[in-house]
Amino acid sequence: MGDRTEQLNDDQLRKLLEQIVQRYGFDFRNYAPASMRRRVLAILQQEKLDNLPDLQARVLADPSAFQRFVHGISVSVTSMFRDPTFYLAFRRNVMPLLATYPFIRIWNAGCSTGEEVYSMAILLHEEGLYERSRIYATDLDALSVERARQGIFPLGRMKEYSANYLNAGGKDSLSHYYTADRENALFRQYLMKNIVFAQHNLVCDSSFNEFHVVLCRNVMIYFNNTLREHVLSLLHDSLTTFGILCLGAKESLRFSGIESCYVQLIETEKIYRRMI
Ligand SMILES: C[S@@+](CC[C@H](N)C(=O)[O-])C[C@H]1O[C@@H](n2cnc3c(N)ncnc32)[C@H](O)[C@@H]1O
Repeated sequence: MGDRTEQLNDDQLRKLLEQIVQRYGFDFRNYAPASMRRRVLAILQQEKLDNLPDLQARVLADPSAFQRFVHGISVSVTSMFRDPTFYLAFRRNVMPLLATYPFIRIWNAGCSTGEEVYSMAILLHEEGLYERSRIYATDLDALSVERARQGIFPLGRMKEYSANYLNAGGKDSLSHYYTADRENALFRQYLMKNIVFAQHNLVCDSSFNEFHVVLCRNVMIYFNNTLREHVLSLLHDSLTTFGILCLGAKESLRFSGIESCYVQLIETEKIYRRMI
C-alpha cells in the first residue's frame, strides 16, 4: 500500500463524493473533513484498495460496495443507556410531560444499531407509557437499521448495559428484557411492537411526521456547521410546539438559528423544549 496521505488527495476525495451524490443521491460533502478522511482511509483498507479512483470505480459500479461505503462512513458506535444521567433526567423530567398526552410519537434519528431505541422502549414500558407510544427509529445506514430491527446485541456487553440501566433509574433488572443464547441477548418482542424501523437520510430526506420527542444524539458531531444548521432546522420542523429535542452530550443548540425557540429543560443535559 502506498503513502497514506497521498491516498487521500483532496481533489480525488471531492470528486468521489460528488460522483456519489450524482449516482446515489447521498450527500457526504458537508461531513466534518477530519473524521471523513479517517473513515475513508479505513474503507480503503477494508476494500483492500490503495487509491481513491479505484474505490470510486468500485462504489459507482457496485451498489453493495456503496452500501459498505455508507456503513464505513457512518460511525455506528453506540450503547444501551449511553450517558445514563441523560436517561435518568429524561425519566424524571420528560416522562411526566409525556404522560399528559393521549398518544406519543418519538423519532429516534440516527439510531445506529438500535441500542438507543430499545433503551427508550424500556423506559417507556417502565413508566407505563409504551402502549400509547410509537417510536420511529431511522438511520442513513441500511445495514445498521437491519441490525436494529433484529434487536439482538452481544451478550458480552450486557454487564456494562446493566450498570448503565441501573444508573439510569432502571426499576427492574435489564436481564428481564431479553433472553440469552451463547453469544447474544435477544430483546423481547413486546418491546419491538411499537417501533417502526426505516432508512432515512437527514441530509436529503424531509420531515415525515410531527413528533412529541426527537432524539438525535451523537449524529451532528460528524457534520460541518452548514449541515448541522440544515439538520437542526429539519428536526425543528418535525417537532410539535412544546415538543422535546434531545442532543448528544457534546452537541448543543448554541449559536444555531433555532436556539431562541427553545429552553433547556435540564441544565446539565442536552434536553430542550420547543416553546414557539
Ligand atoms: C455515533 S452513532 C450515534 C448512535 C446513537 N444515536 C447514539 O447516540 O448512541 C451516529 C449515527 O448517525 C448516523 N448518521 C450519519 N449520517 C446520517 C444521516 N445523514 N442521516 C441519518 N443518520 C446518519 C450513522 O449512520 C450512525 O448510525
